[in-house]
Amino acid sequence: MNDQVRKPLPHDAARLHVTGEARYIDDIPTPANCLHLAFGVSPVARGVITSLDLDPVRVAPGVVAVLLAADLPFENDTSAGAHDEPLLAVERVNFVGQPIFLVAATSHHAARFAARQAVMAFDEEEPILTIEAALAADSRFEEGPRVYAKGDAAAAIAAAPKRLTGRIEMGGQEHFYLEGQAALAMPQEGGDMIVSSSTQHPTEIQHKVAEAIGKPMHAVRVETRRMGGGFGGKESQGNPLAVACAVVARQTGRPAKMRYDRDDDMIITGKRHDFRIDYAVGFDETGRIHGVDFVQYTRCGWSQDLSLAVADRAMLHADNAYLLENARIESHRLKTNMCSATAYRGFGGPQGVVGIERVVDHIAHELGLDPVKVRQVNYYADAPVGGVVGGAAPAAEPLPRDISNRETQEDVTSRGAAGAFPVEGAAVKAKGGQTTPYGQEVVDFLLGRLTERFLETSDYAARRAAVDEWNDSHPVLKKGLGFSPVKFGISFTLTHLNQAGALVHVYQDGSVHLNHGGTEMGQGLFLKVAQVAASRFGIDLGDVKITATDTAKVPNTSATAASSGTDLNGMAVQAACDTIRDRIAGVVAELHQVAVETVRFEGGMVLAGGNEMTFAKAAQLAYEAQVSLSATGHYKTPDLAWDRIRGAGRPFFYFAHGAALTEVVVDTLTGEYRILRADILHDAGSSLNPAIDIGQIEGGYVQGAGWLTTEELVWDGKGQLRTHAPSTYKIPACGDRPRVFNVDLWDEPNPAATIYRSKAVGEPPFMHGVSALMALSDAVAACGTAYPALDAPATPERVLAAVKRVRGV
Ligand code: MTE
Ligand code: MOS
Repeated sequence: MNDQVRKPLPHDAARLHVTGEARYIDDIPTPANCLHLAFGVSPVARGVITSLDLDPVRVAPGVVAVLLAADLPFENDTSAGAHDEPLLAVERVNFVGQPIFLVAATSHHAARFAARQAVMAFDEEEPILTIEAALAADSRFEEGPRVYAKGDAAAAIAAAPKRLTGRIEMGGQEHFYLEGQAALAMPQEGGDMIVSSSTQHPTEIQHKVAEAIGKPMHAVRVETRRMGGGFGGKESQGNPLAVACAVVARQTGRPAKMRYDRDDDMIITGKRHDFRIDYAVGFDETGRIHGVDFVQYTRCGWSQDLSLAVADRAMLHADNAYLLENARIESHRLKTNMCSATAYRGFGGPQGVVGIERVVDHIAHELGLDPVKVRQVNYYADAPVGGVVGGAAPAAEPLPRDISNRETQEDVTSRGAAGAFPVEGAAVKAKGGQTTPYGQEVVDFLLGRLTERFLETSDYAARRAAVDEWNDSHPVLKKGLGFSPVKFGISFTLTHLNQAGALVHVYQDGSVHLNHGGTEMGQGLFLKVAQVAASRFGIDLGDVKITATDTAKVPNTSATAASSGTDLNGMAVQAACDTIRDRIAGVVAELHQVAVETVRFEGGMVLAGGNEMTFAKAAQLAYEAQVSLSATGHYKTPDLAWDRIRGAGRPFFYFAHGAALTEVVVDTLTGEYRILRADILHDAGSSLNPAIDIGQIEGGYVQGAGWLTTEELVWDGKGQLRTHAPSTYKIPACGDRPRVFNVDLWDEPNPAATIYRSKAVGEPPFMHGVSALMALSDAVAACGTAYPALDAPATPERVLAAVKRVRGV
């Protein structure tokens, strides 16, 4: 039986995390002779380096080596692909914090101290910092804007009974992973290198290190046991540290370690992209959108990094949960003299979602309608579930036979390949022309029924009335209720990244060594995948050893990103396990003279025609029968086809959904506020681990709400980040959590053939934080008649300004 999946098991390292025993890069015992590195960084945002006196650096205590770009032996490039990001600046600097030189010293503090002793001069130029300045200078990463369109937005808006225009600005976001960026390189014989890196993308680290030390990839091995949080900030931003360590290790023959101090980390590394979205919308009296036009502007920073894909995903989520007959989305990817914005949970999706949610909120305010109603009017149509259209979701029952542990990998992949969208039972049919603005048929929408249920479980109607009543009788403290849905596309939009590999060994005592290409950053991937392995063999989770990600075990991996860690690696592990299991079944079947298909693996036993033996015994027998107990597995997501230039095709395998309701109270004299209560109903398919998934949903919500409320990044006119420490950058603390926080799972199997019919859950819940912004808007709206038009983050200052606007004072 699959008794190890669908269990609310605690995170495999939870105890280690809270006791401090969990090992991060900086906890690896420092090897003898280890050097510690620090970058000397640019104090100016844009200009030419005119003089550089590093003598004071060289004579500082403990300094062993100082490197400039000219000292680098091979590639000077740490970019994710665009070759526009030197490890050390060449002639020019492009943002405050750009590494110019590298110091290797005998201690972390010696390196940091020395790095500050340089005497540098620059021929400063006017930095490009704002959207306006970038547009005026035509400073972009692509020629002109990218446009995705469906129908004729301009005509539909012009012909609609009502029209609105508006603008929303939303800030970026610091990842604030608890473990900062860190790497350790250990030189090996023959110039080989072993690198430990806090990275979501060990293969990329391997690739960049190999280029930097002039070796093939086979000479570099990268290991990652865990990160203390990544959140997208370790997809590409760990490259400079790992490359720096490897270069120094190669040159000195000594191990080299680098970790950014928190302030340096915040100044140097990229963050979430901030956006400005201008909108025009045409609609009718019911709130139904006839046409909508978005212009998205984003500041990408000085280098390209992952910005094009992030901006694409913002466009791909401009519809969120709504069927838009006529839509036009224009996207400007602007090059500015700031740190290079990068991946961050949702990868641009949240910014796109905030755009359309603002539009819907604005329409509801204009019409005096309940914003929930306006959302429902615009929803895509639900797909039927199990033959029941619009009914309640089925209970959390075991699925039909397709997930039994006898299912072969061919079953899964052939189902995947069989049709455009593999579904069981009542076929899921899109109503005519239910397509996204980029032309993907939406055939698994379920927010109609999820919302119906959620409005009941969150007691919406009564609470709406209570909030209105409160606001009628309280002039100073105003309450607000905000609802937001999410429909999030799952898959990498760079299609070939949708693949994964695994390596599984069964030892002769029946214990299992599990490895795959995914990385652990706290999200519980290793546990979920171990649950899959245990289930395939019918053994206890304790018999499965979770091991560090290692480029020497599984090659050519994708970053653990796009929420697809479990979808991809779970499938690859299933394939590897099933290969071994079927070999063991063959041995046992022969022994007992039964058909191989009848052999079952359950409860730690192997059952064959009335006989049973322990899994350990069966493994022993297979070993003695000279059968291999090691296998690789590979998986690729089926049926994806995407043209990102035209914006057409099927970028996503399926969608994950959910809805959130936030209640806030605002002090209208100061703008200060509290989140009083949050309710969430989230679709994780048939959850592999409800405890882990609920943790992801809670964390995602809090992080999303933090982005839109208190987390404010401020750059001054010189391009200096003024908020480069927790003293000035406010992430949510435990005291900021909603006092009432109800999170439930919508337990409906994924109609797409994913691992045990689960759904990706890493990023989608981030967007539930949008309901906090909507709630603040609702509270401010209660102060008068004008639309609050709140920008994000809706800090107390912005809320107070909006209150004044709405009151007309
Ligand atoms: N949860 C924790 N605890 N720590 C993290 O760094 N990263 C998020 C999400 N949840 C993150 C997290 C991001 S950005 C992604 S893409 C997914 O986890 C990646 O993991 P998955 O694909 O296994 O869900
Ligand atoms: Mo997540 S932003 O895809 O690492």
